[in-house]
Amino acid sequence: MGESDACRESMADARRRFDAFRRGEIPHREFVYPLRHHTERTDFCPCEMASGGLTRLVLWQLRYTVASFALLLPWSSVKIFLLRRLGAKIGRNVYISPRVWIDPMLPELLTIKDNVLVGVGARIGLHELSIGHFRAGRVVLREGANIGGFALIGPGVEIGRRACVAAAAVVRRDVPPGATILGNPGRIFETRPKEPSA
Ligand SMILES: CC(C)(COP(=O)(O)OP(=O)(O)OC[C@H]1O[C@@H](n2cnc3c(N)ncnc32)[C@H](O)[C@@H]1OP(=O)(O)O)[C@@H](O)C(=O)NCCC(=O)NCCS
Repeated sequence: MGESDACRESMADARRRFDAFRRGEIPHREFVYPLRHHTERTDFCPCEMASGGLTRLVLWQLRYTVASFALLLPWSSVKIFLLRRLGAKIGRNVYISPRVWIDPMLPELLTIKDNVLVGVGARIGLHELSIGHFRAGRVVLREGANIGGFALIGPGVEIGRRACVAAAAVVRRDVPPGATILGNPGRIFETRPKEPSA
């Protein structure tokens, strides 16, 4: 066993910390667990659970299936109803367009405040496996935010009040209130001064 392995939190302890994070008992925005390799089996993904018991596995798979099914439905109100039952916090007057993808593994990490539009085909990731770590992060879409069609929002990102994410933009960092984000990687769009007319 290497020195870094000896220092590493055990999988059972990490799972308990992860469960507390999912339940909101740990207020941090992100949960991170270092990996030796990105194919290392962990207890964090329903498809990967190395241990933790059959009941936990079946329950999680059921939740995953309901969330995946909900997102296939075209009706925003039905999607919102089912996502709320799975722990997502969704405010009033929210519209979730058809073909929006919300990470079905961890819907409880998503908060959508009032008057938010999530455009067609937008994607919201709530966890990721990288070469060096597993990471899960809360996503918050603040009041009046507008998420453009086919945009991608990564785990741990907060979209500020009345901010606009352009169609197909890729957002990996927080977006300040009122800002417009364009492109990949997403950058704040600043209106150019108009050319003086002759
Ligand atoms: C970002 C957005 C709000 C900008 O709208 P706007 O204020 O009217 O701005 P304009 O259309 O005048 O475009 C301003 C500049 O941004 C560029 N731009 C606009 N949308 C862009 C996008 N999605 N990606 C990259 N660049 C974009 C334009 O080409 C233009 O560039 P220029 O100044 O070099 O000519 C709009 O284009 C957008 O993407 N809205 C989201 C719509 C959507 O998907 N709704 C949900 C559907 S269900």
